[in-house]
Amino acid sequence: MPHILPTHQGRASERILFELIGGPGKTIPSNNHFDTTRGNIEHSGAEAVDLVIDEGTNPKSRHPFKGNLDPGKLEQLIASVGAGRIPVCMLTVTNNSGGGQPVSLANIHEVSSICHRHGIPLFLDACRFAENAFLIKTREPGQRHRRVRDIAREMFDLADGATISAKKDGLVNIGGVLLMRDDTLAKRADSLLILTEGFITYGGLAGRDLEAMAQGFTEVLDEDYLRYRLRSVEYLGERLLEAGIQIVEPPGGHAIYIDAAAFCPQIPPGQFPGQALVCALYTHAGIRSVEIGSVMFGRVDPDTGESSKPPLELVRLAIPRRVYTQSHIDYVVEAVCEVFKYREQLRGFRITEAPATLRHFTAKFEHL
Ligand SMILES: Cc1ncc(COP(=O)(O)O)c(C=O)c1O
Repeated sequence: MPHILPTHQGRASERILFELIGGPGKTIPSNNHFDTTRGNIEHSGAEAVDLVIDEGTNPKSRHPFKGNLDPGKLEQLIASVGAGRIPVCMLTVTNNSGGGQPVSLANIHEVSSICHRHGIPLFLDACRFAENAFLIKTREPGQRHRRVRDIAREMFDLADGATISAKKDGLVNIGGVLLMRDDTLAKRADSLLILTEGFITYGGLAGRDLEAMAQGFTEVLDEDYLRYRLRSVEYLGERLLEAGIQIVEPPGGHAIYIDAAAFCPQIPPGQFPGQALVCALYTHAGIRSVEIGSVMFGRVDPDTGESSKPPLELVRLAIPRRVYTQSHIDYVVEAVCEVFKYREQLRGFRITEAPATLRHFTAKFEHL
């Protein structure tokens, strides 16, 4: 990409991008927007729309690329709102809020071609580009002989830009980038970056963080590293499935997602089954997970006070890179299985305090 702007993390890239091209009256599709992406789009006044394929919302489906964006739904959206109101189409690789599921190279080609036929730029939310490229290599027909680096290159070649949180496949503690091809947009982004991030050479990061990020983006493409990492995730998923615990199948890139609705069916979505499981895992075994369901994506109706219900109630067990050994993973398996034994005793929660946007970061809860 001709323009590479460093930022302090992914959401800073998103804020700059959507302040430039978002705004009231605009619609921004994706397979699934991640929470901060959706938050930044909505903060600009635009509407964020999720167009993942139907298999992507069925935890039991073993479709190899459940992160794919549905081309038919994209065409329909363009026909209904008009291309002029769609300033960008995003594609999250891998699809974090949809179970860490990969997007196929064929799908990136198809979405890119639809977007470009209608004059809509395609941006990747590319935090996990290397894991997505590795899953393309192992799952997509005709890709096994290729280097992950070459597949990743092809993914970026199909896009007009990208937002990246380098805390994932950049293998660093802090950092992000905003990539783009459009010279005029990049000049406007430079000005916004200077306003809040720092100068365009460092984007709010220290020199050592920038060097670590450059090194991380190189090392992450090491295929032995990727094989080990994705196998650890898969191992965790297999053990949970063997114990009868429903996860989003097949295991995806960076995490295992437990189907919290199936884990505690006695807790209705309005009482946050995922949050109940998150709290139980922490109090039982000190395991920190995150709810990706009605707390994160439920929208509160201002008239009724009722929260809407997203398609999935998930609990994400995200696995930090280069931290855990197999015995740590075995500990997690044992702990989740122990909580599973007393799942019928888990109770729901009520929110006692929450901000209007991105409520899951700071909301307070009370046990029911
Ligand atoms: C897909 C995706 N996009 C964006 C972000 C935001 O990145 P950051 O936490 O660096 O602001 C994340 C972080 O988890 C993510 O997973």
